[in-house]
Amino acid sequence: MTRPEPSADTAEPELFGTALLHDPHGGYSRLREQGPALRTTTPDGAPVWLVTRYADVRAGLTDPRLSLNKATATSSGQHGASMPSELDAHLLNMDPPDHNRLRRLVAPAFTPRNIGRLRPAVQQRTDALLDRFQDGSADVMSDLAAPLALGVICDVLGVAEEDRRDFRTWTNTLRSPAPDAARASRQALKDMHGFLAGLITYKRSQLGEDLLSQMICARDHDDRLSEAELVAMSFLLLFAGYDNTANLIGNTVLALLTHPDQLNSLRSGTLDVSRVVDEVLRWNSPSMLASRRFAREAIQIGDVRIAAGERIWMSLVSANRDPQAFGDPGTFNVDRPESGHLGFGQGLHFCLGAALARLEVEIAVLTLVRRFPSLRLAATADRLGWCESFRNRGLLGLPVVW
Ligand code: HEM
Repeated sequence: MTRPEPSADTAEPELFGTALLHDPHGGYSRLREQGPALRTTTPDGAPVWLVTRYADVRAGLTDPRLSLNKATATSSGQHGASMPSELDAHLLNMDPPDHNRLRRLVAPAFTPRNIGRLRPAVQQRTDALLDRFQDGSADVMSDLAAPLALGVICDVLGVAEEDRRDFRTWTNTLRSPAPDAARASRQALKDMHGFLAGLITYKRSQLGEDLLSQMICARDHDDRLSEAELVAMSFLLLFAGYDNTANLIGNTVLALLTHPDQLNSLRSGTLDVSRVVDEVLRWNSPSMLASRRFAREAIQIGDVRIAAGERIWMSLVSANRDPQAFGDPGTFNVDRPESGHLGFGQGLHFCLGAALARLEVEIAVLTLVRRFPSLRLAATADRLGWCESFRNRGLLGLPVVW
């Protein structure tokens, strides 16, 4: 690894230290000043370069010299890759031409037309969850955001109601920050793999309208998804679809409840909900880091040289608050003139589920604020707890009263 000369300014950033975990926006604003690419170490000891500035992150996301394929990594770059290899065959581990092939096979299921068909079901789920908001208080995360996001992605994949409890348990285990969670996580991944493989076998004999059935039938000339690709893609969809969407619902409701003028405009119909969601994707992106990339060849970011095979993390949450790209970046402002946030990524790997995520978040937020005109926070915003994660920006709870 080519290290920058050690100095006070290039000291390893505390990516995994408590300061950045507890205050990512403040922490990243300091890191952006320190250099274009900073060397740090993951909790399991893997060396990694952290890229924090908007222009570098945007360029990096579309740079063909940055690969998602583990095979590109040097052994130190590979260190710490903890996913079992049976779950590897998905889009976020692939480069062209494999990526093009797989994305072409799954993309038709995510067209705006196909996603639009889910609108009545998403609305119905939202209404049913809000019908239970009866005692003048609720927790937006556990009573609306998490059950809605999990319910929709399970509907989309065609997971039966009776199997959903296992899904919730597995995903909670995988999200757990507990230091002793590694063994439980390995077991949860194994169980999920077994479950998804069984579900695919079952679906082959009972094809339905769901996305998994569509992926099983997907054809591109003589090509189709292999068994390993079907399992890994279902896993990615479940994962990418659940946490991020639930967190975006929470982050959006919090942004609105702490900015009453913009909330009033939304309620009165003078503000389009899609603008609110876009500004939250910039201001408080649920997906803090893009998937790790590996340099295929030596690359230069500003004055920093990164050698072939080294691991790179690009911070979306940091890029989205870079003052070089967004004026007054810490202010939540739905009327800001700049566009181009990176909350859904950029380029070939741009979020496949963006239309679905938007549909869910828009319906959940709009229905909530319209049905409960006196909705307000039950705790001051600075008392709310956030997941202790360097990947996901999500609230542990969002207590509200009305
Ligand atoms: C608010 C919710 C969501 C956010 C913030 C989000 C964010 C992202 C980001 C940043 C990427 C790019 C990662 C990279 O380049 O390294 C991505 C990719 C992806 N997302 Fe999402 N996502 C969300 C919801 C969803 C949903 C609902 C699904 C599917 C049901 C989904 C499926 C995917 C897939 C399959 C990819 C990989 C695409 C590819 O590599 O071609 N996401 N997402």
